[in-house]
Amino acid sequence: MRLVLLGPPGAGKGTLAALLKESLELVHISTGDMLREEIKKETATGRAAKKFIEKGELVPDEFVIRLIEKKLTSDKRVAQGYLLDGFPRTRKQAEDLDRILRQIQQPLDYVLYMESTLPVIIQRLGGRRVCKNCGALYHLHNKPSKKEKVCDLCGGEVYQRADDNEATIRTRMDVYLKSTRPVIDYYKVQGKLKKLDGDKDSEEVQVALMQIFHEDHKLNKH
Ligand code: AP5
Repeated sequence: MRLVLLGPPGAGKGTLAALLKESLELVHISTGDMLREEIKKETATGRAAKKFIEKGELVPDEFVIRLIEKKLTSDKRVAQGYLLDGFPRTRKQAEDLDRILRQIQQPLDYVLYMESTLPVIIQRLGGRRVCKNCGALYHLHNKPSKKEKVCDLCGGEVYQRADDNEATIRTRMDVYLKSTRPVIDYYKVQGKLKKLDGDKDSEEVQVALMQIFHEDHKLNKH
């Protein structure tokens, strides 16, 4: 299966991706995670990206497209199926993605659009915590780690992302409405868009999605 996850910050893209990559054995490609890794390694891309991410703005297309093109054309596991999380986020990124996917002959099956409402988004992102080591997701109220600030899975440090404060969340939401919403229409025209209710519990979202895959006879390929 070849999927894109689209939706506002906090809609649950990373949470659904973690469930799907296990059940469908997909390569999970998150541009947010890739950029944070570049920042950690203090690469030129990381240094350039840091100031945009901290403000809640999009990193310029050229940096993100270069990262994605390298990953999709060099990682052989991509042929077994992939899950793009947080990419594309602009029309230019969507057009370039089509070009790269034609080149590697791995066209998209679906673009999953996770809709979510602002109060839910603010509650989720304000309480989100992430493991610095393995990336496992937690939430102060919905899904706390057993021991405060310690990852249940690997014992790594659980921290709050610098861009998960209310002012930056509002900027990210504005940027999403202006730059990323148009990408939804781009895929609607291609007939690849499926809408999911991101406000629902993540297991319910997964069940709704599996229903779509079953109806389209997509699961017998795995
Ligand atoms: P990125 O890391 O992609 O962040 P985002 O899109 O803002 O999305 P989030 O990771 O905040 O939310 P999510 O939908 O994955 O929610 P999650 O599952 O974690 O991007 C960060 C920045 O990098 C951008 O602002 C930009 O600067 C840059 N960037 C990245 N890609 C780029 C691109 N293509 N172009 C340019 N710049 C780019 O869930 C959130 C919380 O809610 C968690 O605590 C979770 O436990 C909880 N939760 C999730 N789902 C549920 C549920 N169903 N029920 C209850 N709780 C839930």
